[in-house]
Amino acid sequence: MTDNFAHRAADWDNPSKINMTTIFVSKLVDKIALQKNWRGLEIGAGTGLVGLQLLPYLQSVVFEDTSAAMLGILKQKLKGDEVVEIVEGEVFEYQKQDVDFVFSCMAFHHIPDIEKTLEHLYQITNSGATIVVGDIRTEDGSFHHFEPIPHKGFDTAELSEKFEKAGFKVLSTETYNVLNRERTPGVFTDYEQFMLVAERR
Ligand SMILES: C[S@@+](CC[C@H](N)C(=O)[O-])C[C@H]1O[C@@H](n2cnc3c(N)ncnc32)[C@H](O)[C@@H]1O
Repeated sequence: MTDNFAHRAADWDNPSKINMTTIFVSKLVDKIALQKNWRGLEIGAGTGLVGLQLLPYLQSVVFEDTSAAMLGILKQKLKGDEVVEIVEGEVFEYQKQDVDFVFSCMAFHHIPDIEKTLEHLYQITNSGATIVVGDIRTEDGSFHHFEPIPHKGFDTAELSEKFEKAGFKVLSTETYNVLNRERTPGVFTDYEQFMLVAERR
């Protein structure tokens, strides 16, 4: 599999990404009563900017990502006493049904088959599990400089339908942040980030 993030991994943990992920984590922690006995799984964990902040609230975290380079940076940050598992590959590689909490920040738009992913999440989560997905609302492709990516953001009503069809009850789909980015010289665009919270039936 091509590692599309290989050239970005070394510089990923820059102030902008740290800020973006910290906003996501603080909204998540405000909204969800995280439990110390929960096993978490992060989809598209990257260098661990989100999961490492949430780990102290949880029993353990599975960091899943298709990029060996991004996970390589995460591994450098681990001290060795954390209760973590690292899965390099698609989420389908994780097969145990023991997950209480799934979270993902800015990775869903990179996942080609959302329906199949949600069906798999249903298989690996415990009844009542919480799912939190942060991503951008539908955009014109400029966010990724019109490069081909699986999804130009999401319409949260359509995404919610997919969650419901896969066996999850969607509890909320709030905008939690707005990124203002100059993707075309001189043109600043607002990209709304939403947080979808769902519960496995
Ligand atoms: C925009 S980055 C976000 C990384 C991290 N969540 C953060 O906020 O810093 C997207 C991540 O998703 C990963 N990714 C891309 N396609 C994926 C897939 N099909 N399954 C899992 N992860 C994927 C990339 O390797 C990358 O690390």
